[in-house]
Amino acid sequence: MEQALLAWYGEHARDLPWRETRDPYAILVSEFMLQQTQVARVAPRYLAWLERWPTVEALADTSVADVIRQWEGLGYNRRALNLRLAAQHIAGQGWPEDLTELPGVGRYTADAVARFALELDVLPVDTNVRRVLDRTGGRFGPDAAHALMDLGATVCLARIPRCGECPLSERCPSRGRRFPPLRKQSRFEGSFRQRRAQTLRLVTERPRLLDRLDGEAVEALRKDGFLSIHGDLVQLAK
Ligand code: ADE
Repeated sequence: MEQALLAWYGEHARDLPWRETRDPYAILVSEFMLQQTQVARVAPRYLAWLERWPTVEALADTSVADVIRQWEGLGYNRRALNLRLAAQHIAGQGWPEDLTELPGVGRYTADAVARFALELDVLPVDTNVRRVLDRTGGRFGPDAAHALMDLGATVCLARIPRCGECPLSERCPSRGRRFPPLRKQSRFEGSFRQRRAQTLRLVTERPRLLDRLDGEAVEALRKDGFLSIHGDLVQLAK
């Protein structure tokens, strides 16, 4: 199966900027951005980020306020804080042997850096890769990582896979199946996340009076290190 997949990839590989580097910091930035944001939205933001902070040291020296501003629009802002903390860890102590010691780095992100920057023999498994592995039952090695990601993102889609375009369909036990949508995020999770995001946007524009803001959202953002409160005034953390 891997042969057929790699041949397909030869024709259909997506041209993505983070595939042109092996710099572990650049790969780390790309993977943080890609954790919950689509490839097309990430590409320009990844390039802009590296232009502004080309090295771990440059990012380690910056403020929370600056990373939140630079992250704006990518969503799930906690990733920006963790990326800065990870840079501070690396600038101070070097890259840890176990990359999951870095804030915001889980199994997948650690494996992606190991594979794409260090070229270690691991297959990073994100949700797209997981889906292709589960549906095909195929065994794929580390060389297939990018191909599996692209197949999952463009052909082996979550709900209605395009089996007619798939290089693995002849041997795929799931060929032709449809997959009903998963449970949606609960209304509460959705709305509190939205309130937090809206509050952070307001304070990112300029400092705001505490009593004009959503108090619960301010408190959650303060606890997580996004905001600081000075008397009546709420501003981005330094
Ligand atoms: N290439 C490397 N990592 C990737 C990811 N997370 N998504 C898409 N393409 C990638």
